[in-house]
Amino acid sequence: MSTKILVTGGTGFIGSHTVVELYNAGYTPVIIDDLSNSSVKILDQIEKIIGMKPEFHQFDLCDQNKVNDFVAANPDIKGIIHFAAFKAVGESVQKPLEYYRNNFFSLINLLAAYKGKPINFVFSSSCTVYGQPDVLPVTEAAPVKKAESPYGNTKQIAEEILAETAAVSKNYNIVALRYFNPVGAHESALIGELPIGVPQNLVPFITQTAIGKRDKITVFGNDYDTADGSCVRDYIHVVDLANAHVAAIKRMEEGKSKANYEVYNIGTGKGTTVLEVIHAFEDSTGEKLNYMIGPRRAGDIEKVYGDATKSTKELGWTAELNIEDMMKSAWEWEKYIKNNPF
Ligand code: UD1
Repeated sequence: MSTKILVTGGTGFIGSHTVVELYNAGYTPVIIDDLSNSSVKILDQIEKIIGMKPEFHQFDLCDQNKVNDFVAANPDIKGIIHFAAFKAVGESVQKPLEYYRNNFFSLINLLAAYKGKPINFVFSSSCTVYGQPDVLPVTEAAPVKKAESPYGNTKQIAEEILAETAAVSKNYNIVALRYFNPVGAHESALIGELPIGVPQNLVPFITQTAIGKRDKITVFGNDYDTADGSCVRDYIHVVDLANAHVAAIKRMEEGKSKANYEVYNIGTGKGTTVLEVIHAFEDSTGEKLNYMIGPRRAGDIEKVYGDATKSTKELGWTAELNIEDMMKSAWEWEKYIKNNPF
């Protein structure tokens, strides 16, 4: 029987890809998801890829009793990858309490349920904790800057909760992964990002425009201090990102952690502008994109990309897929969901 890893939020965008890569690496993924921002049909999609339907539990992690019952009934879970959280920056500004309640209660309930039990724990953090870094590429040693939104604040405070908990309770072995901008989809085009309503993020907006769901895409500003004036980000293929979680679990399992709370950047180390992303989409798919230059978006960071040296050295993980792979796979997924709506 292979090692069981709990994946909270396992039917979501990054969660579903991680379930697949865990399975490919020989683990047995077990999913908890309340389906508040995903579809139960993703389980069938995962089955089409890996040939088996993962064990699935539908409940809200904010319910401490349900979390405790799950932990009592599943003593063979050896690791947790905790994705389940709200993640829309703009919405978090409108609904701060919902964000703090959901993102903290779920984390605290999980940690509390494992009190005293040995557990390997991977947390979904974000490069948003760096704000606009003073030095690029940004390393893990860079200071955490004041959060721009309640969403960003939940990531910062969650990291503090984890560090403080790990400091006093050695049963927890924790890795926080600071993701840069996850995009793309599985090469099968059977799983991918399912934005609800109008997407706020760049790549789903690009693919929805190309397929005709949106008239045009606006580039938010071309007067930044960058090569072509548009913002720079570190886009990372979701399958590479998923594999970083597997690497983090392995590091802890193999007893390689230097401390029981560690932080890693998960990016490619390469900055790409918004216009470069648009051109990579056009070049790799052959689709023409109707785009225009518009004003800057409030709260946007000019440029951020990560130094992934520590992840490469210590996790033995490196991003392998490039921006063309990201665009092509995101486009195949967009076409798939047009013909197979969720
Ligand atoms: C945003 C969040 C970040 C979060 C991440 C999740 C902010 C400030 N940051 O990152 O905390 O972790 O989403 O994926 O909101 N763009 C356009 N036109 C569009 C959409 C986006 O030009 O229609 C540009 C943006 O200005 C930005 C880049 O594309 O320069 C990427 O934007 P987006 O995908 O929203 O990600 P971030 O803003 O980097």
